[in-house]
Amino acid sequence: MQIRVVSDQPWSVSADVLAIPILTDDPGAPDSSTLGEIDRRLEGAIADYRRIGEVAGAPFRRVLLRGRELGAPWVLAVGAGAVAGFDALAAYRVAASIERRLAGHPVTRLAIWLPASLWTRTGLSADDLAMLVARGVAEGAYDPATLYRSGYDEAPPELDELVLVAPGADVASLQAAAERGATIGEGARIARDLANRASNDVSPDVLADAATDLARANGLSIDVIGPDRATEMGMGLFMAVGRGSDNPPRLIVLRNGTDGARDAQGRLLALVGKGVTFDSGGISIKPADRMEEMKMDKTGACTVIAAIVTAKRLAPDLPLLALAPAVENMPGPHSTRPGDIVRALNGKSVEVQNTDAEGRLILGDALTYAERLGATHLVDVATLTGAVERAFGKQITGAFGTPQPWFDAVVAAGARQGERYWQIPLVDDYVRDMESWYADFQNSGPADGSLVKSGLFLREFVTRPWVHMDIGGTGYLRRAVPWAPRGASGVTHATLVQLALDGASGA
Ligand code: BES
Ligand code: MN
Ligand code: ZN
Repeated sequence: MQIRVVSDQPWSVSADVLAIPILTDDPGAPDSSTLGEIDRRLEGAIADYRRIGEVAGAPFRRVLLRGRELGAPWVLAVGAGAVAGFDALAAYRVAASIERRLAGHPVTRLAIWLPASLWTRTGLSADDLAMLVARGVAEGAYDPATLYRSGYDEAPPELDELVLVAPGADVASLQAAAERGATIGEGARIARDLANRASNDVSPDVLADAATDLARANGLSIDVIGPDRATEMGMGLFMAVGRGSDNPPRLIVLRNGTDGARDAQGRLLALVGKGVTFDSGGISIKPADRMEEMKMDKTGACTVIAAIVTAKRLAPDLPLLALAPAVENMPGPHSTRPGDIVRALNGKSVEVQNTDAEGRLILGDALTYAERLGATHLVDVATLTGAVERAFGKQITGAFGTPQPWFDAVVAAGARQGERYWQIPLVDDYVRDMESWYADFQNSGPADGSLVKSGLFLREFVTRPWVHMDIGGTGYLRRAVPWAPRGASGVTHATLVQLALDGASGA
C-alpha cells in the first residue's frame, strides 16, 4: 500500500472512494465550510441523511453515497463521535472501520479526509493522527478468513494507494508519520496471522521457522534453543511444560544490535511473549468448553516476534531483544504431574501445583534468560489468565509493573498508539499464598486474588524494570466489531513498537 498525503481539498482528489469523518458536533471553521462544499457537490445528501439520523456522527455508522461532483465516484460517510472524545483509539478504530466497510468491494485507491478539527481541537497532533489512520487502514485490511477458507471474497480490499487529504497540514511531516503507521499496521498483521493459525498448523517448531524466515528477511539475528540445550542450560520451568508434547519446545531468541549495545536512553529492551501453541491444561486438563480457543495461547509470542520485526523496519540500528518460549501444553506419559518439583534457570525451586498455570513457568525462565542476554528493561505479553478477562473484558489490558516510572513509560507509549492498560497491584500480602512446603514456591494458589498472584509469580524472575501485560481478554475477539474481525486483535504490538522507538532518538 502506497501512501500519499495531499493538502488539496477533498473534492479535487481522485480515488475510488473518499471517506469523510462525520462528527456529532459541528466541526467549526474551516471544516464546516469544507463539509458544506462537499455536501453541495453531493446535492445535499449529507444534510438529508443527517436529518433522518443516518449520517449523524454515531461512531462507526458508515454510509456509502454516490460521489456526484467529486473526484471520487463514491463517498463513505463514517461516524466519528464527538470531537471532544476523539482520541488516538478513536482515530485508529475509525480508520480501520472505513477499510472494513469496503469489504468485498473492488476498491484499490482510498482517500480519507482528515478535517483540521481532528488535530486542532483534540489532544492529537496532526502527525499522530496521520500515523493512527494509516495504521488503522493497514490493519483493517486484515481478515483471518482468508487463511483457510476457499473462495472467500468478503475480505477488505488490499489497497494500492491510501491518500490522506489534509488541507493546511505539513505534508512532508504527515507523509513520514503515515508511513510509520502503515508499517506498524503491517507488523500487527504478521502477529495476527500467526496467532490465528490453528495448533495443528503452528507447532513450536513451525513458529520458530516462521521467526527464522522473518529474521532473515529483516536482518535480525536469531537463536532457536531446543530441548537438549534448554535442559543443559537449566531451564527447568520451560522444560516442565515443553516435555509433555511430541512437538518439541523451542525458545526463540531474536536480536537486533551487537552485544552490549544500548538505545538512546541507555536501555536494552527485551520483549518476552508467551508462546503456548496449544494449552490443553496438561494433566490438570481443561474442560472441553471453549478449549479450542487455546490455540490463541501463542498470541504473546506472535506479538513480540512481529514487534521486533516492525521496530527493525522503522529503526534499523535500534538494539532490541525478543524472546518467545514456544511449547505445546499437553497431557501424556512424559508430562509434568501436579506436585512435581522443578528448578528454574534462576535457581529457584517450583512446585507445579497446577499444570494449567503453564504460561508463568515458561515466562519465568525466558525472563531470566533475557536478563542474562543483557536486557536492562523487560516487557512480557501473555494470554496468562482467564481471570483478566472476567475482570476487564476484551477492551482494556490488565498489566503489572515495577518500578512505577517504567510502568508509566509503557502506558504512555500505549496511549500514543491508542492502546489502553489498567494497572493491577502487586500486593505483597498474597506472596504467602504462593508458598510451598516442598519448594521455594508453587505456580498457583488459592483462587482468591489469582490475577494478582500470577503477577507475583512472574516477579520472582525479574531483577530489572519490568512490565507484564495479560492479554487473556484483549488478545482475541470472539465476535467481529466494526474495526476488527473475529480472532487475534494484534493488541500490544503497537505499544511495544512505540516503546522501542521511544528509545531511538527522534521518533
Ligand atoms: N492460557 C490460560 C489462560 C486463558 C484462559 C487465556 C482463557 C484466555 C482465555 C492459562 O494458561 C491458564 O490456564 N490459566 C489458568 C491459571 C490457573 C490455573 C491458576 C486460569 O486462568 O484459569
Ligand atoms: Mn493454562
Ligand atoms: Zn495458557
